[in-house]
Amino acid sequence: MALLEINGLTQRFSGLQALTNFSFSLEERELVGLIGPNGAGKTTAFNVVSGFYVPTEGTIVFDGTPIMGLRPHQVAGLGIARTFQNIRLWNDMPVLDNIRIAQSHWLGYGFWGAVWRSARYRNSEAAVEKKSREVIEMMGLNDVADELPKNLPYGLQRRVELARALSTSPKLLLLDEPAAGLNSADVDGLIKHIRWIHDSFPIAIWMIEHQMKVVMALCRRLCVIDFGRSIADGLPAEVQANPDVIKAYLGDDTL
Ligand SMILES: Nc1ncnc2c1ncn2[C@@H]1O[C@H](COP(=O)(O)OP(=O)(O)OP(=O)(O)O)[C@@H](O)[C@H]1O
Ligand SMILES: [Mg+2]
Repeated sequence: MALLEINGLTQRFSGLQALTNFSFSLEERELVGLIGPNGAGKTTAFNVVSGFYVPTEGTIVFDGTPIMGLRPHQVAGLGIARTFQNIRLWNDMPVLDNIRIAQSHWLGYGFWGAVWRSARYRNSEAAVEKKSREVIEMMGLNDVADELPKNLPYGLQRRVELARALSTSPKLLLLDEPAAGLNSADVDGLIKHIRWIHDSFPIAIWMIEHQMKVVMALCRRLCVIDFGRSIADGLPAEVQANPDVIKAYLGDDTL
């Protein structure tokens, strides 16, 4: 059984169809790229899978459970974590708290439960603290654990977001353009971190990325989406030579 099975997904917004009959499946521990021109529907696919949108049509089964219509924190609780194309950190909370709160907030203790320290939260607080410290250490963020994200360079903010997603011990990690806005040294660091995460944990990664250097370094399989439809899915070399893919990217210098 696939870890993630998407079938016939259609997402309509008023007057616009961002996804049309999109199907995709991902096995446990796979690392797959999702590429396609701007506006193709990549982020929309992630938004639907992670519970931000309810799909117009189609089914999504994660680890045996249908997840269409679940709220984002419920999806997170089942083991799907994500990062965002435009970094979304709580900027007025130190890095450590960003990671701590994500575990409580996303995994169903509820924000107020966390703030008012309900019994359920209190019992788990020590475990959350331990896990947060571990992830901070693993991701090389010790020196900035007490800093506010807004005061950090962009590359470190991206790494904090990755650490936050990882701290929930997901089975599936969705990364939306993790290399966007990074300088070339940071891109090399990111490739190493993602590879290390994938090698170290029983985790599948589905990654949207425009930078081919990152995609080619990490992904053994690529799915290509154009105008909301899947137009290719296979080995990177096959996909790059696929006439439909070349046509979709014509005039686009990202491939
Ligand atoms: N909430 C929304 N309401 C209306 N239209 C939307 C919404 N979200 C996305 N869209 C539209 O859906 C289409 C797909 O957008 P999406 O963000 O999924 O593209 P993308 O492939 O991630 O592009 P990019 O590479 O630029 O990030 C676009 O035309 C976008 O304007
Ligand atoms: Mg996008």
